[in-house]
Amino acid sequence: MKIKYPLMKNNITRDDLDVLIGFLKEDDPILTQSSNVQAFEEEWSQWLRVKYSVYVNSGASANLITLAALKQLYGGGEIIVPPLTWVSDIASVLQNGFDPVFVDINPQTLCMDDKQVLNKITDKTRAVFLTHVQGFNGLTNNLLNKLKEKGIPLIEDVCESHGATFRGKKLGTYGLISNFSFYYAHHMSTIEGGMVCTDNEEIYQTIRMFRSHGMVRESTDDSLKNKYESDHPDLNPSFIFAYPAYNVRNTEIGAIIGRNQLKRLDENNEKRNKNLSLFLDGLNIKLYRKDFAMDGCSNYAFTLVLQEPDFEFRDRLEHHMRKNGIEFRRGNAGGGNQMRQPYLRGIVKYKEWEKYPEVEHIHHFGWYIGNYPDLEEEKILNLCELLNNV
Ligand SMILES: Cc1ncc(COP(=O)(O)O)c(C=O)c1O
Repeated sequence: MKIKYPLMKNNITRDDLDVLIGFLKEDDPILTQSSNVQAFEEEWSQWLRVKYSVYVNSGASANLITLAALKQLYGGGEIIVPPLTWVSDIASVLQNGFDPVFVDINPQTLCMDDKQVLNKITDKTRAVFLTHVQGFNGLTNNLLNKLKEKGIPLIEDVCESHGATFRGKKLGTYGLISNFSFYYAHHMSTIEGGMVCTDNEEIYQTIRMFRSHGMVRESTDDSLKNKYESDHPDLNPSFIFAYPAYNVRNTEIGAIIGRNQLKRLDENNEKRNKNLSLFLDGLNIKLYRKDFAMDGCSNYAFTLVLQEPDFEFRDRLEHHMRKNGIEFRRGNAGGGNQMRQPYLRGIVKYKEWEKYPEVEHIHHFGWYIGNYPDLEEEKILNLCELLNNV
């Protein structure tokens, strides 16, 4: 069956490519990380309203070096994470030697339930690593106030929620650090790519070094560089490695596409939000959930969740979607309940995942379907019609 409703369409436009081609036609263009990366970081910081942004080669790399910097600066311990997220959120916790502590989700936001997060805080908690799932806001006043009171850093994964807001301010500005992804399937795309954002100067300098082999010369802080140089007179100042780190840099190619994309991100998000409202309005409430927390949301996907757990209906629905050319992903963010995944065997006890019933429901009875800016109204209405008549 030909795909009629793809997960994504035209996320890198002819115009993006033409701008890139213009650059490639220049005499001997620099392609590795250079002035366009720096300009993209500055423009992104301005758009988000944070002090610092560091462009990397994926959202997963953003997760990885965020947790690496956290460990370096504040030490180990427990990190509170959702079971409904992408694998790299939990992998980065494990890779940096932290212990993941799981919390069930709020079915209206698909993000971690704030009360359960607060209940799981212990004296070992090093941070709360919250994912804003598929455009929905996961923050509450209570969560932010209590974390501040307890002095526990919040890390926001905004890879699926560019432009979403809480109290009128963009998600990704509340946490100590926030992460974005520019993978093709998201709100905007630099082919592959990600961003680490913060207002904290020390974290910014550490993240810059972690992005690039742990090299001190990547820091923009002269006093930090001078200190390393005077402490290590035997080393070539160009090659002082502060940390055993990574190379997760991106290229000028990605940055040029990203800078062009950013110009239309807000406009595209508005279109996507209108699409989502139309989609949810059109669904039959007897079959599907419609009570999502829409305030400030910014979704690149249509969220489809069954009201009732019904495996027989689920299988019929999936068959029906395939037959009608509707591309879909079951389990919403990251394929459902991460706690069930083989990489967590030995860490999560067998069947422990059953103690997280809201994530379990999404795991079996939740999907997302593509929501892109040029999806026509008539197609959305037809889509609802198809889903209501399984
Ligand atoms: C919540 C979340 N975090 C991180 C990532 C990783 O981003 P990337 O695919 O750019 O590595 C994704 C990816 O889809 C994601 O959905």
